[in-house]
Amino acid sequence: MRILVLHGPNLNLLGQREPAVYGTTTLDDLNTELQRFAQACGVELEIVQSNAEHALIDHIQHAPERGFEALLINPGAYTHTSVAIRDALSATGIKFVEVHMSQVAAREPFRHHSMIADLAAGTVSGFGADSYLLGLQALVNQHGDGGGETDG
Ligand code: DQA
Repeated sequence: MRILVLHGPNLNLLGQREPAVYGTTTLDDLNTELQRFAQACGVELEIVQSNAEHALIDHIQHAPERGFEALLINPGAYTHTSVAIRDALSATGIKFVEVHMSQVAAREPFRHHSMIADLAAGTVSGFGADSYLLGLQALVNQHGDGGGETDG
C-alpha cells in the first residue's frame, strides 16, 4: 500500500513553533517516526511539506496517477479556509484521513470548522505526533490487509 503524507503550512516549524500547543517534536522527528511505523506495517510512505496551497493541490491532484491509494493530510491553517484544497480532494476522490496535532475543537472558534472533514474517512486531532500515527494505523486497517502486504 502506498500512502502520501501531506503537511501543510508552518508545519516545517514544528519543534520551535508554539511548543505549548504543538510540542517539541520536530518535523524530521515526526517523519522518522512515521516512516518507522509504516515500515513495520509494510506500507510505503512519501512525505511532503509545503507552505504553498498550490503545491498541496498539485500533490493531491497527482496522487492517484502516482499510485497512492490514500492520503494522510494535515492542511494546517488551510483546513479552515481552503475551498481549493477541498475541491482537489473532492475531484480526485482519493481516500484520506485528516489529522491535527492540536485539539482544534478546543481552540479559537475560527479553527472549529474544517473545509474537508465531511469528505474525510476520519479525523484525528489533539494527540500531537500520535495523531499522524493513529491516522496511518486507521488507513492501514481500512485497507483490509492488516498492513502486512505491500502488493495488495
Ligand atoms: C493544525 C491546526 C490548525 O488550526 C493550525 O492552523 C495549524 C496546525 C494542527 O495540526 O493542530 O497550522 O492543523
